[in-house]
Amino acid sequence: MIRTWRLDSAQQSLVLASRDDRLPEIVYWGARLPNAEDVQAIALASRIDITDGGLDALPELSICPEAARSFHGHSGLSLRCENGAAMQPKFTFVEAREELDTVSFVFGDSALGLTYKAKFAIDPQTQVISTSARLEAAQPVRMDWFAAPVFPAPAHSDEMIDFTGRWCDEFQLNRTAWSAGMRCRENHTGRTGHEHFPGLIVPSRGATNTDGCAVGFHYGWSGGHKMVAEELPDGRRQVQFGHATGLESEPAKVFETAVLYAVHSSSGLNGCAVAFQRHLRDRIVKLPDPKRSRPVHYNCWEAVYFDHQLDALKEIATLAAQLGAERFVLDDGWFGKRDDDSSSLGDWQVDPRKYPDGLDPLITHIHAQGMTFGIWFEPEMVNPDSDVFRAHPDWALGPSDQLLGRQQMVLDMANAQVRTYLFERISAILGAHDVDYIKWDHNRVLPVPSAAQTRGVYALLDQLRAAHPQVEIESCASGGGRIDFGILGRTQRVWLSDSNDALERLRIQHNASLFLPMSVTGSHVGPRTCHTSGRVIDIRFRAWVAAQRHMGFEMDPRELSKEERNALGGVTQWWKANRDWMTHADILRLDSADPAVLAEQQIARTGERFVVFAGKAETSRQISPRPLRLTGLDPQATYHVDLVNRAEISTRSRGDQALREAPLELSGAYLMSHGLTLPWSFPETMWVVEGHRQ
Ligand code: GLA
Repeated sequence: MIRTWRLDSAQQSLVLASRDDRLPEIVYWGARLPNAEDVQAIALASRIDITDGGLDALPELSICPEAARSFHGHSGLSLRCENGAAMQPKFTFVEAREELDTVSFVFGDSALGLTYKAKFAIDPQTQVISTSARLEAAQPVRMDWFAAPVFPAPAHSDEMIDFTGRWCDEFQLNRTAWSAGMRCRENHTGRTGHEHFPGLIVPSRGATNTDGCAVGFHYGWSGGHKMVAEELPDGRRQVQFGHATGLESEPAKVFETAVLYAVHSSSGLNGCAVAFQRHLRDRIVKLPDPKRSRPVHYNCWEAVYFDHQLDALKEIATLAAQLGAERFVLDDGWFGKRDDDSSSLGDWQVDPRKYPDGLDPLITHIHAQGMTFGIWFEPEMVNPDSDVFRAHPDWALGPSDQLLGRQQMVLDMANAQVRTYLFERISAILGAHDVDYIKWDHNRVLPVPSAAQTRGVYALLDQLRAAHPQVEIESCASGGGRIDFGILGRTQRVWLSDSNDALERLRIQHNASLFLPMSVTGSHVGPRTCHTSGRVIDIRFRAWVAAQRHMGFEMDPRELSKEERNALGGVTQWWKANRDWMTHADILRLDSADPAVLAEQQIARTGERFVVFAGKAETSRQISPRPLRLTGLDPQATYHVDLVNRAEISTRSRGDQALREAPLELSGAYLMSHGLTLPWSFPETMWVVEGHRQ
C-alpha cells in the first residue's frame, strides 16, 4: 500500500510517499506539477531499479533514513538508551494530517517506546518549505544525531555550494563537486559562527544566478549545526541538517530539531535567494513597528572605542545627525570599568567615571538632534575581572582552566539564576532610559557547545522582548558570527561583518543576499582608512556600498572633509528617498560578464521600479565595459533607465556612451538579453542605475 501527500506553491511541488506503513520519502521535489498529476503514479515511477551485487530491494531514502531497515548511508537518527546501549528504531505509520499547505506525520516504534513526528509546511507566498521533526520517548534517551526531515538532492547537479568565512570575511562560498561518499560540515563552536553559516545551495548543471534550477536549504538554529550531503553507492543523494552532534548532553524524553527551510527554484540561485529573503523578512522577523522606515544608524565604535567622553560623543552625535543619522548606538565601553576588553563584561551598570550623571545627558542630547538611542550589550559573556564573576564564579560555563576568548568566558544560560540576573540588569537600563535598540554581541565561541545554552539565550531574548516590545535588537557576534533564522526570529537586524571595508563588504553582502534581505542587513560607512584592512577608500564607494543595505555610519564624523560630508549626505538622502520600497524589494544577483564587476538588482515586488548596483571590485581584464544583463523584467515593457551618480563619471571615460549623457528608454527584452552598457569606471567605484517601468 502506498500513501501519498502533496504540497504545492506557485514555483514548486513536493510529493511524499509512504509504502507499507514505513516512513515517507520525498519522491518528487521540483517544478510545480500539473494539478491533475497522479501522485500515486509518481510514487511508482520514482522507484529505481536494482541489479546483482546488492540487497534485493533498495532501502528507502526516507525523511529519517533508518539503519534498522538496511539503509547503509548516514541515518537520520542515532540514539541510545539512558544506559548507553544503541537503539535502532523502525517506525511504522500511526497517523498523518493534511491541512491547508501543511502535512504532519506521526510514526511509532512501540517496542522501543518511541514516537517520531514530522511536519512540512509550504508557504504559498514566499515559496519556502519549513520542516522539523520531534522525537518522543517513553523513557529518557540519549540523542547523538537527529536530522530534520531529510531531502533528496538533485541528480542532475555537479556541485554543491556551502558557506565558510572568518572574522571580517563572512559568507565565502565553498563549491564542492559531488562524488561518492559524504561531505559533512559540522560546527562545534556553539554559535552559528563566521565559519559555518548553516546553508546549502545545490545548483543543477548549468544553473546561474538568474537561470536554471537550484535547491536551497537553511537550518534556523544558533547553536551550531551539522550538515550531511551524501551520494550513496546507488547514486541517490541526500541532504541532512540538524544540531551538531554532542549538543544534547543530557538524556531526555523529547528532542526537537530546529526548522529546516528549503526551496526549489527554476529561476537560478535567485529563485532560492528571493524565497529566503521574503520568508525571513515577511514571516520570521518581527519589527516592533513595521511601518517605521528603517532608520539611518550611527554607531560610535570605530570613532571612540572604549574612550567615552561625553563632550566628544555629543559633538559626534551632532555631526552624525547633520549627515542624516536617525539612531545613535552607543557601543562597548559605557559600563563597569571597561577601559579595554579585559574587564567588566557582566557588570551592566553605567560607569560613573565616564558618565557621572548617568546616560541621561548623552541621551537627551541625542534626542535633541532628532535621533533615537540604542545601546550595546554582550549579555552571555563575563570577564573573570568583573564583580559578577567574583560573586558567582560558578555561573561561567566550562572548566576553570579553559582558554579564554577576547579575555572572556561564557555565562551558563541554561541556569535560570543567570537569566534572571541578566533580565533584571538589562531591564533596568531599558526601563530607566528611552532606548529603542540593543546591539547584542557574542564575541567568543563556547568552551563546550550545548543546545541548552542556545535555548537559554532564546528564552532570555523572548522574555526581554515581551517586557520591552518597542526595542529592536541587532544580532552581532564579532560581526556576522550569529546569523541564522533562529536568532532572527528574535532580533531585527544583523551586523553582517566587522569589516567596514567597502570592497570586502560588497562581496560579503552579495553572497549574504542568497539568504538575507536588505531590511535586516546592517552596513555602515567606515573610516577613510579602514581599521580592519588598512585600505583607503573613497567616500562615494563607501557610501554606496552601505546604501545597498540598512545604511549607517561608523567613522568619526570629525574626520570628514567638506567634500566627503557633501558626498555622504547626498547618498544618505538618496537612500532615505528609496529605503521604503527597497526594504520590501527582492535582491537579485546579476551574472556579470565582467568578473571584476559584482552587481545586483533590487526590484520592487510590483516590478514597477528597480535599482542596479554595479560595484567594480577590481581592474577589468578588457579595456571597455561589457554590457550588464538585467533580470526579472517584463520583456514587453519599456523601462526608463537612468544613472543616479552621473556626477561620478571619471575624466578617463571619453566615449559617446549614451547613459553618460542622458536617461534611456529600453525594453525589458533588450535589458535582459543584451544588457545595459555602463560608462568606463575605476576600480572601487559603484554605478547606481534606477529603472522605472513606463
Ligand atoms: C564586536 C563587534 C563590534 C563592536 C565590538 C565592541 O567586535 O562586532 O562591532 O561592537 O565587539 O567590543
